Amino acid sequence: MSVLRRKKKVSESIVTMTELVLPNYTNQLGNLLGGQLMHWIDICGALSASKHSQHVCVTASVDRIDFHHPIKLGNVVTLTANVNCAFKTSMEVGVTVYAESHVEGTRIHTNTAFLTFVSVDGNGKPTETFELEPETEDERKRFEEAHQRRKARLGK
Ligand SMILES: CC(C)(COP(=O)(O)OP(=O)(O)OC[C@H]1O[C@@H](n2cnc3c(N)ncnc32)[C@H](O)[C@@H]1OP(=O)(O)O)[C@@H](O)C(=O)NCCC(=O)NCCS
Repeated sequence: MSVLRRKKKVSESIVTMTELVLPNYTNQLGNLLGGQLMHWIDICGALSASKHSQHVCVTASVDRIDFHHPIKLGNVVTLTANVNCAFKTSMEVGVTVYAESHVEGTRIHTNTAFLTFVSVDGNGKPTETFELEPETEDERKRFEEAHQRRKARLGK
């Protein structure tokens, strides 16, 4: 039985996470480990997908992630995720990362990542998700770009 595919807004899928960079998360230079940041990106993205689909969501793929600026011990990392596009059972989620130093009063955009999550049922089987209705010009642009990335990703 397929779900009623009510359209949902992008704003309904927004999830924000804030993390403090503790010593255990850093390398010998006092910079945040890349794997730790990827873990937070994955969790934040999965929460956004599950908020949209109202199901457990599993990670199907992660697009390239570039690390332009080191994130330092003591920085506050804010991750914001939203669904860019919902397909049949899968969703592309965009995660934006900012690193702040409350002491220095700085805020740097450090990463943007795109991940694909699949909505699954209790047996781990893909299950239909809700349609996404972009409302703003920016949301419509991200919706179109997500279609192009899906074509490149899956070759279809
Ligand atoms: C992702 C997974 C659920 C897909 O299941 P499947 O039986 O292969 O399902 P299908 O081939 O019918 O594909 C289902 C959807 O996944 C998408 N998908 C599958 N592989 C993908 C990939 N590598 N990248 C992006 N999307 C992918 C398909 O495009 C399809 O999307 P659509 O319904 O919106 O068109 C399954 O491969 C899986 O469970 N993988 C392990 C997930 C995991 O353990 N993640 C890490 C921990 S959360």
